[in-house]
Amino acid sequence: MCGIVAYIGHKPAKELLVEGLKRMEYRGYDSAGIAVLNGGLRCIRAVGRVAVLEDKLTTVDDLEGTIGIAHTRWATHGEVNEANCHPQQDDKHAIAIIHNGTIENYATLKTYLKGRGHSFTSATDTEVMVMLISELYQGDLEQAVRAALKEIRGAYAIGVICANEPDTLVVARKGSPLIIGVGAGEYVVASDASAIVAHTTQAFSLDDEQVCKITRDGFRTSTLDNIAVTPEVRQLEIDLEQIELGSFDTYMMKEIYEQPERLRLTMKGRIKSRDGQIVLGGVSKFTRELVRARRFVLTGQGTAYHAAMLGEYLFEDLAKVPAKVEYASEFRYRNPIIVDGTVLVAVSQSGETADTLAALHEAKERGALTLGVVNVVGSSITRETDAGVYLRVGPEIGVASTKAFTGQVAVLTMLALYMGRRRYMSVEACADLLSQFERVPEMIEKTLEQNDHILDVTKKYVDQENWLFLGRGYNYPAALEGALKLKEISYIHAEGMPAAEMKHGPIALIHDGMPVVFIANQGPQYDKVMLNIEQVKSRGGRIIAVATEGDKQIETIADDVFYVPHIADPLSPLLTVVPLQLMACHAAMLRGHDVDKPRNLAKSVTVE
Ligand code: G6P
Repeated sequence: MCGIVAYIGHKPAKELLVEGLKRMEYRGYDSAGIAVLNGGLRCIRAVGRVAVLEDKLTTVDDLEGTIGIAHTRWATHGEVNEANCHPQQDDKHAIAIIHNGTIENYATLKTYLKGRGHSFTSATDTEVMVMLISELYQGDLEQAVRAALKEIRGAYAIGVICANEPDTLVVARKGSPLIIGVGAGEYVVASDASAIVAHTTQAFSLDDEQVCKITRDGFRTSTLDNIAVTPEVRQLEIDLEQIELGSFDTYMMKEIYEQPERLRLTMKGRIKSRDGQIVLGGVSKFTRELVRARRFVLTGQGTAYHAAMLGEYLFEDLAKVPAKVEYASEFRYRNPIIVDGTVLVAVSQSGETADTLAALHEAKERGALTLGVVNVVGSSITRETDAGVYLRVGPEIGVASTKAFTGQVAVLTMLALYMGRRRYMSVEACADLLSQFERVPEMIEKTLEQNDHILDVTKKYVDQENWLFLGRGYNYPAALEGALKLKEISYIHAEGMPAAEMKHGPIALIHDGMPVVFIANQGPQYDKVMLNIEQVKSRGGRIIAVATEGDKQIETIADDVFYVPHIADPLSPLLTVVPLQLMACHAAMLRGHDVDKPRNLAKSVTVE
């Protein structure tokens, strides 16, 4: 989703801002723009990739300033055209703004501002913001921003510059992420640490409704009521290497391959397999509440929802506590009942997904204890939950989530065992599962060795436009995730569902040659899955099976097989999803798509 980057310092702003925009391309966007102060205010915008903007910039020669703002836009208010790109300017062309988020009362404000004689050139809520700042400007940009924000309802992360104040950058946030990188006499502000880390690793985040005035000599942070606050400058937890491709062609492939090493970090210091013990520092303060909880609601969107669904299975099976998974967007608006002893678990890679945040607010309001299972350190969900467990999988750049999924499932597994062990589970049973869990990284390594075979199989089916992904029990959510991976980057129509549900309708779709992916590991439902395979096979479907190493029977019925090592059923999705991730990545590449920048998608969806 939209990315913002701003700079004030001694270096030419233009190059630095464009580089920052490129680092944030993975978030998803449809247009881009930049404004620099160089005597006056210069603003250049373009529809399409950052490369289009870059080309346009080569034709402009007075963009040499050392202060500027830039933006990649993912349209929400108004269509994708140049007038709607950011930066947006006021009608005197003196003030420019970049904005992530949405303003709820923009229509009322626009009517008011029109009445005050302002004329608008875009359909954006952002132009309303900059016009309001302009209306309230009396020679002090920081004050005008503060006054305007008091009138605004909605979410924002903004950067503002003004031709009359060439040494001042004002930034503010509410509900959308904003990080301020602190260098030597220079500051790089961005919505994403990846745009900052090449310049400095010292940074701080603003809290909601805080404003920061930055000059080359320092910064001052305050509330909307102008009460000074002292933010804590900390070390950013990512380095350049983590956000570069290295020897891989795509971030998605890199991140699939990173899973073993990343999961080792997820587990590090958290499990003592021989003693059947799990140590989760992030939730230890609430152990009593968790063990006594009467009900869990797990929520998220997209891939995180699939991980949350596995959490539901794991919590009920291993911790024997009622659990329910729900799309955050549905939970938020359907007037949910939160009984005493309810714990809400918000699952999210970015920690910024607007729907998940809204569900979290709703649950908090209704008295639930809230936990975050999140990757990005310091993100909104981590700040607003009572407790949580980080994934530790490092920055995920590929829009199609892979290592965050296995990280989320690993954390939810540990949470289930953490509670299960304290409720009903014996030391021996817990120790047994943990010793297998510990071996997941090496088992994924083994699964990845089949990459060439997976590519060959994908080539056989890549021209087919409709696929089904079927699984049972723990591997039903894995089937959903496999289908999502394929559709989101290869644009092939793919549906996931419980294998048994197929015969209640979708079986009508099966035709000669249609690829049907079955997760058929040797778990408790193996025989039932084999039956479902027969049903598809006899109608002409082509069977691609994900099966347990050593299973010879499957070869007699499936057209193609990907093997994963044997593991206890509750842990099996951590393995079975891996061939499906690889297959999706290959399918998209074979079809010539940009795997890391799929059409219409955004990495982090910060609007509801
Ligand atoms: C977007 C992304 C998905 C992601 C979902 C939830 O739709 O494209 O890959 O699963 O948001 O994001 P979160 O950051 O909350 O995990």
